[in-house]
Amino acid sequence: MRHFTSLYDVPDLGRLLRTAADVKRNPLARPDLGRGKVLGLIFFHSSLRTRLSTQRAAMNLGLEVIVMNVGSDAWKLEFADGTVMDGDTAEHVRDAVAVMGQYCDILGVRTFAGLQDKEADYAEPVLQAFIDHAGVPILSLESATRHPLQSLADWVTIETYKQVERPKVVLTWAPHPRALPQAVANSFVEWMRQAEVDLVITHPEGYELSPRFVHDTPVEYDPVKAYEGADFIYAKNWSAYYDYGQILSQDRRWLVDAEKMARTSEAHFMHCLPVRRNVVVADAVIDSPQSLVIPQAGHRVVSAQAVLQEMLVHLGG
Ligand code: CP
Repeated sequence: MRHFTSLYDVPDLGRLLRTAADVKRNPLARPDLGRGKVLGLIFFHSSLRTRLSTQRAAMNLGLEVIVMNVGSDAWKLEFADGTVMDGDTAEHVRDAVAVMGQYCDILGVRTFAGLQDKEADYAEPVLQAFIDHAGVPILSLESATRHPLQSLADWVTIETYKQVERPKVVLTWAPHPRALPQAVANSFVEWMRQAEVDLVITHPEGYELSPRFVHDTPVEYDPVKAYEGADFIYAKNWSAYYDYGQILSQDRRWLVDAEKMARTSEAHFMHCLPVRRNVVVADAVIDSPQSLVIPQAGHRVVSAQAVLQEMLVHLGG
């Protein structure tokens, strides 16, 4: 696997899942695979889990890691092509990315949706600049529209904790005071559609995700009906896709609470974190034995390491 920016970069999903299972069983089995190679982690947006889990995964493989927070550490970047750069941007992203590629064997990049211009966000200009100009393999640490490392960790979590062959998995929208991207929800749907699960999406009317991700996945506007018999409740806020980037509802009835969880089949609760307690999920749910948020975050090391292993093998690591 050369790049990892979405499910569609994975040439053999079954093999990647087997690699992840191997990594989960024995994370220190390949300590020399990355020896002599450098992984750059470039952040255009804040991160706790992605940064630390990818660093830990790299350490397990013998990779050296360089981290840069672009907003605070780099020259102010220009993204538009053909610009007369006589304003406050000091370096073009084409040049900056090509230089980063000189120092690193693999580059991970975290970008974020601006939530102003849907076409621009969904064209993934920053991620594409890395793919076009770095000259080295690119690992998405979350882009404007997808978060595939999170989705792989979510898949591993569901495989680990499922108690029936084909669990019912509910992706539920939840309220949030800020407008957030659709990336985690898009990716979760994209990956779960390939899994042996019955996936249902539930959200208030107006929060429909892009049909490019949803396809024929069932959508239920009544969360009480959606929760019925669920084995996993995966909560996430996202802003509107059609009224792009808008907050259309703060309806607290969408909070994941004990009352709705009681309608499930003793479902596990999942969230990618960070989470706003008692806005997205009640303390009684996230602190319950059914909550998987901590092992789910732990599986971020597994997903990052499995993907890095496949990228290093492709590089001839
Ligand atoms: N879930 C996730 O990606 O967390 P961070 O934003 O902290 O990396």
